[in-house]
Amino acid sequence: MSNGTVQQWIYSFVTLSIVFRTEGLFVNITYVLSGVAKGAVCLDGSPPAYHHDKGFGTGVNSWLIQMEGGGWCNNISTCLSRKNTRLGSSKQMVENLAFSGILSNLPQFNPDFYNWNRVKVGYCDGSSFTGDVQAVNPITNLHFRGARVFLAVMEDLLAKGMKNAENVPPFAFLSLSQMLRRS
Ligand SMILES: *[C@@H]1O[C@H](CO)[C@@H](O)[C@H](O)[C@H]1NC(C)=O
Ligand SMILES: *[C@@H]1O[C@H](CO)[C@@H](O)[C@H](O)[C@H]1NC(C)=O
Repeated sequence: MSNGTVQQWIYSFVTLSIVFRTEGLFVNITYVLSGVAKGAVCLDGSPPAYHHDKGFGTGVNSWLIQMEGGGWCNNISTCLSRKNTRLGSSKQMVENLAFSGILSNLPQFNPDFYNWNRVKVGYCDGSSFTGDVQAVNPITNLHFRGARVFLAVMEDLLAKGMKNAENVPPFAFLSLSQMLRRS
């Protein structure tokens, strides 16, 4: 690529980023306070949280759930080091999250799901929504409660209309029915 081409490229990229930013949709955080009494909490003991943009039109009863990724913490020191980040605490999650790509509300960017209920579930338990340990070491104050976080979030979303869902990607259905059977 010649220098001129590279410059044009960077210029287009910057312009595009600005366009995306100005058209960006910012979605407010929802804390699942009702989960706390059931011990559904992040690594640091804070409530689970998600960002949800309501579906509209023909998408009102369709749900897309995105579980945030972020790897596992595999021992006490790595879990401690993420405890006070957004991967360990909803206190560190952003209030207003930009929804883009598969979470966008614009048909030109997200033709299949733009008008669905779109949810991004914050990942803050350190083990991909699987932990279910009652005991909390008072020295580290680490909570390993990912499975409870998952349940609490799903129950909250069911109450917000997901119980009427006609369209939910199969993986969400599967995990949900498995979790509900267990509890
Ligand atoms: C999102 O939160 C802001 C305050 O941070 C508030 O002004 C706004 O109305 C909220 N939007 C929705 C859709 O609830
Ligand atoms: C914790 O895991 C990290 C990453 O695998 C490793 O580097 C570290 O030595 C481990 N610490 C302990 C105390 O096991």
